[in-house]
Amino acid sequence: MRIDVISAVVKLLESPLNESILKRAQDKKIAEIVIHDLRDYAAGKYRHVDDKPFGGGAGMVLKPEPFFKCLEKLMSERKYDEVIYLTPQGTKFTQKKANRLSLSKNLLFICGHYKGIDQRVIDKFVTREISIGDYVITGGEAAAVVVIDAIVRLLPGVLGDSESALTDSFQTEAGFDAPVYTRPAEFEGLKVPGVLLEGNHKEIAGWRAGQGQKKYKKVKKIRSLK
Ligand code: ADE
Repeated sequence: MRIDVISAVVKLLESPLNESILKRAQDKKIAEIVIHDLRDYAAGKYRHVDDKPFGGGAGMVLKPEPFFKCLEKLMSERKYDEVIYLTPQGTKFTQKKANRLSLSKNLLFICGHYKGIDQRVIDKFVTREISIGDYVITGGEAAAVVVIDAIVRLLPGVLGDSESALTDSFQTEAGFDAPVYTRPAEFEGLKVPGVLLEGNHKEIAGWRAGQGQKKYKKVKKIRSLK
């Protein structure tokens, strides 16, 4: 899969997109993630990418020209399955959407910053607006990292144990992962559940399913109360 990300603050993307699982996916050539600095497409000596909003109001708006230049170049090079704009006004991101997007060949992400981006960029290029939750963060970069991570970890061969993505929380019928423990079996008087130490795989699987379901029901109840 090829993933392009356009941003005015690339430092917010560089480290998180090049560590851990995302780094491994790229090293293994399963995913290619390319970050594009909006400033490289800005005109003039100062390479301004933002300007005051028409009609007044607080904050700055990302200008259309650098986006158009960058997007037109990228779209002339390949066909994108989706052009995604990260915004709190988008549809809520879920595991189901991650699963669907993980079947794509080429994805393009646009990160807004400051007050937002000129609407003409959205109208002309964007095919899907995604929100990571009902709250506002400073820019789309952190949201893009969340969405890209959720997608890339699903690509075949990225995770060492091919089972693990399938048993992730939200991916199973049972709902959530069971709690996990490692050595020591007892630490400051806190004990690991005995069933995990006894080596009976059938019993362990049953215990895990039960714990996952219990956690799922508890979280669902808490969420429905809010
Ligand atoms: N940009 C700012 N807040 C956001 C959110 N909640 N989801 C996606 N992009 C955003």
